[in-house]
Amino acid sequence: MDRNLAINLVRVTEAAALSSARYLGRGDKIIADQAAVDGMRSMFDTLAIDGVVVIGEGEMDEAPMLYIGEQIGKAKENSIKVDIAVDPLDGTNAVAKGLSNAVSVVAVAPRGCLLHAPDMYMDKIAVGPKAAGKIDIKAPVEENLKAIAKALNKDISDITVTMLDRPRHEEIIKKVRSVGARIKLFKDGDVAAAIATCFEDSGVDVLLGIGGAPEGVIAAAALKCMGGEFQGQLVPGLYNPKEEEIERCHKMGIKDVNKILSIEDLAKGNEIFFAATGISDGEFLKGVVYYGNNMAKTHSMVTRSETGTIRFIEAIHKLDKKPEYATRFRSK
Ligand code: FBP
Repeated sequence: MDRNLAINLVRVTEAAALSSARYLGRGDKIIADQAAVDGMRSMFDTLAIDGVVVIGEGEMDEAPMLYIGEQIGKAKENSIKVDIAVDPLDGTNAVAKGLSNAVSVVAVAPRGCLLHAPDMYMDKIAVGPKAAGKIDIKAPVEENLKAIAKALNKDISDITVTMLDRPRHEEIIKKVRSVGARIKLFKDGDVAAAIATCFEDSGVDVLLGIGGAPEGVIAAAALKCMGGEFQGQLVPGLYNPKEEEIERCHKMGIKDVNKILSIEDLAKGNEIFFAATGISDGEFLKGVVYYGNNMAKTHSMVTRSETGTIRFIEAIHKLDKKPEYATRFRSK
């Protein structure tokens, strides 16, 4: 695939972030998410790709835009056929409440290379490149932490586990504490948290616990590009009827719902692209900052698996010249 797709994907996540960041702290997660979707969708229309959304805002009847199966891009005759996984705003509550860690993310891969994951939960483990190949989601938490500590040449008391702050993680927390490792909980946004494990300066070494399955696919795509490792297992029936969720998996082509999903199962091959833009401040991306004279600054990263190069892009946007972001406030 053309490597310049990478920079165009940054435009896509920038558009979502610029649209959504207007709603930081305004207490309305639906409008913040809708703004991100609108921004992302309009920028996608400018890309010369023949894309289909495989991870998006929901089924066709649930979401008017970026729904699963939606065709994306100005396809020309020779346009490459791609799968697109989007989360225009990962951290809807974070934006609504004015909290950190909200990002806009997109992953692109050749058609058939991204797992079509239903909107349900997934148990996850993610580590950066140094601990790749040393983890096993089936192994006890304590064993994984010891293996990660060894791979990173750290004492186990210097290992930091990051995890969504949810009651369902009580047991894992006990196990992590029993071996003396540190814990950093976060309120929302486990795509950014998984990616943070690939940056030593982030201070987190491993992501554990249960989050969204669609977010798992996107995180796996990012970690594939960055040389990290991600394993997942779907958790049907966590909060919804189990049979219903198993049925949804089958409909989406997942025959064995108990299968341990490797990074290759989630994001296949070596032509994966991933881009993210910060909406509110996070571990490795700053949130959108508004300047005087109707200007705004975004902070993004983009990477692709073929080279593994990670680019950080700061952009100053002259919003007067981008009328689509001129809306300051949407009333309901
Ligand atoms: P949304 O932006 O869709 O609200 O997702 C935020 C998030 O924190 C994800 O990053 C995470 O995978 C999921 O929610 C966890 O779900 P829950 O909030 O139900 O525990």
